[in-house]
Amino acid sequence: MIRKLFRNASITTPSDPGTPLAGERQEEVRHFTHGAVYCRDGVIKAIGEEKEVLKVLSPGDVDIEIDCEGLCLIPGFVDPHTHMCFAKKREEEFTLRIQGTDYLEILQRGGGILSSVRAVRAASEDELFSTTLEHALSAHQFGTTTLEIKSGYGLETESELKMLRVIDRVGRETPLDVVPTFLGAHAVPEEYAKAPEDYLNLLIHDMIPAVSKQGIARFCDVFCERNVFTVDQSRRILQAAKEAGMGLKVHADEVYDLGGAGLAAELQATSAEHLLAASDENLRAMAKRGVIGVILPGTAYSLQKAYAPARKMVEFGVPVALATDCNPGSCYTESMPFVFGLAVLNMNLSVSEALVAATLNAAYAIEMAAHGGSLDVGKSADLLLLDGESPAIIAYHAGVSPVVGVYKRGELVFSP
Ligand code: NIG
Ligand code: FE
Repeated sequence: MIRKLFRNASITTPSDPGTPLAGERQEEVRHFTHGAVYCRDGVIKAIGEEKEVLKVLSPGDVDIEIDCEGLCLIPGFVDPHTHMCFAKKREEEFTLRIQGTDYLEILQRGGGILSSVRAVRAASEDELFSTTLEHALSAHQFGTTTLEIKSGYGLETESELKMLRVIDRVGRETPLDVVPTFLGAHAVPEEYAKAPEDYLNLLIHDMIPAVSKQGIARFCDVFCERNVFTVDQSRRILQAAKEAGMGLKVHADEVYDLGGAGLAAELQATSAEHLLAASDENLRAMAKRGVIGVILPGTAYSLQKAYAPARKMVEFGVPVALATDCNPGSCYTESMPFVFGLAVLNMNLSVSEALVAATLNAAYAIEMAAHGGSLDVGKSADLLLLDGESPAIIAYHAGVSPVVGVYKRGELVFSP
């Protein structure tokens, strides 16, 4: 048994009430000026002002003491939306995009997601594992302690199962907690371009049963977008996934207001993600059904589009979570501090709102709140030590990582 005391820390953390935080509560955090966290075997046993925590400890209760020297301590970031299982970067496509070619037009021409599909299909399982591991470890160094990784660059049964095995292996061979999501409905693969309905049948009658039998994926996601999957097709896929026991997520209204947010509300999906173009009506429907809105400001930044209406989401009572969307096309970053800065400076979230979005609500968006997302007794001691006095440093010290210590289950896993 290892008993650790983190002391002399300026702690800011949400406290988990058992639901994601929405509306005025989106910025509900606790602060301890001279705080301490006590953990046993990687599980938090006490948190509060240092003198209060010391009161509940007896002499000899602490094996290792860590003096945080007044620095800011927050929960580890939870990144609830990534596509970081990919085999090759797409730098040439980035160059085309900044010269004015549209993201969806590149996909229409057989590039974009489809070029990542060719690379993933051609990669061996070990090759794909080593590139995915690189991205995951990079995220870890930027303070991510729990993350979701989607499949979706296989688009045929065996390649999707291969991606899910790789994603699962990243979780088993690193300190990170990894939540795998099946995204077979990421695009219609080239061989089905002339018969998209046949691909839908493959998804529903072959892939979803095979993925369910494999037992790795916890969620199913669909890219509901013009020229990708319609609302009706998305509904059919998600219903089949629900029957197979998977949780539901929707890539909704990223480029056009197709109604993906409304579909997420109708199906009571766990989350709807992107939402750059979502209508007020559908955002309100999400709030009513408790669907989490995952904002991905790095994608708006990289695609040079208007940001999702995060202030409106808070106003309507949608619980907002924050993620990187790390992928080789629309947003290549593993950095939660980067997207945190964008959320504060370009989407007008307060620092506390962004902190809740990047921790507790993000954990709810992937059903990991029982383990992480806040520094509460009984949760995993996933902690970040920041080079500042408060979480404001994350947005304020732009373009660099403020993270000087990453602790997973109480163990130091990274320090620069
Ligand atoms: O979230 N929108 C669909 N999927 C990703 C991009 C994937 C890619 O371009 O490779 C996204 O933006
Ligand atoms: Fe995405």
